[in-house]
Amino acid sequence: MRELPIGIFDSGLGGLTVAGEIVRALPGESMVYFGDTARCPYGPRDQDEVRDFVLQIGTWLSLRPVKLIVIACNTATAAGLELAKRTFDVPVIGVVEPGACAAVQTTVNKRVGVIGTVGTVDSGAYSAAVRALDAEVTVFSVATPRFVDVVEQGLRLGDGTLEDWLAEMGDVYIRPSFYEMARHYLDPLKRSGIDTLVLGCTHFPLLAGPIQQVVGPKVRLISSAGETAREVAEVLSTLGHLADSDAERTEVFATTGDAEEFARLGARVLGRPLASAQHVDLAELECLVPPERRSNAAASDEEETCV
Ligand code: DGL
Repeated sequence: MRELPIGIFDSGLGGLTVAGEIVRALPGESMVYFGDTARCPYGPRDQDEVRDFVLQIGTWLSLRPVKLIVIACNTATAAGLELAKRTFDVPVIGVVEPGACAAVQTTVNKRVGVIGTVGTVDSGAYSAAVRALDAEVTVFSVATPRFVDVVEQGLRLGDGTLEDWLAEMGDVYIRPSFYEMARHYLDPLKRSGIDTLVLGCTHFPLLAGPIQQVVGPKVRLISSAGETAREVAEVLSTLGHLADSDAERTEVFATTGDAEEFARLGARVLGRPLASAQHVDLAELECLVPPERRSNAAASDEEETCV
């Protein structure tokens, strides 16, 4: 068990911000990262559909096998964490609770903002997680779906860091400009008097600089990546499943999108080259979960194509 990799997944490249923190915290651990780029974004999708994606990717990872699964996507955590915990034999960790925990520890005036996808915000997962930790904290949530597009598209368009690209080109290529859009999303939160803002989507740490510029220096930004990595370390250590320090470390990257592009863009997010990425066919992935276990009724039409 100790030598098995940690499985991590997201709708695309954003979960690599969490993977990077896990590698920093646990440099001896092997990892398998799955980015469901072909079906990104998850944010506007129905919760049942996202739950099915969680089952499919969790099953794919379990077959590798892996010793622990990290749902490095807030939308998928909000929709499918409980189901995944019941379904898979290994521990499953999401990113909402770690983010809520970090926010509660940070806020002084007990006014916390959360930005995320429509799916995450509508689920009320952050408000519930924060309330469970400290009932005196008030949560102000705003869905900022276009930030996901900015990250996914911006990584494809520019060459340097995403932040440089936004500073130099973001106002030319994005309509309305990034800063106009960000002010439209974030000004109401500023007016609510928040002192802490949770980046409730794993894509958003890549926009931390520009977001900080818009909310101002007095608002502390929280990304759940660091706290999630700490939880992974704690769970593995408690179970006695941490890798041996002299074990050989491996990294596998898989995507439902274009493998070559994923490796190139992933390298930009992680800030180092990726060995390579493998392509996983969507039809093959969908067939991993039998129709009777699916949440999404429409998906049962695919039944006949699975052999
Ligand atoms: N990275 C995902 C999250 O944390 C969202 C991106 C998407 O909409 O797929 O919610």
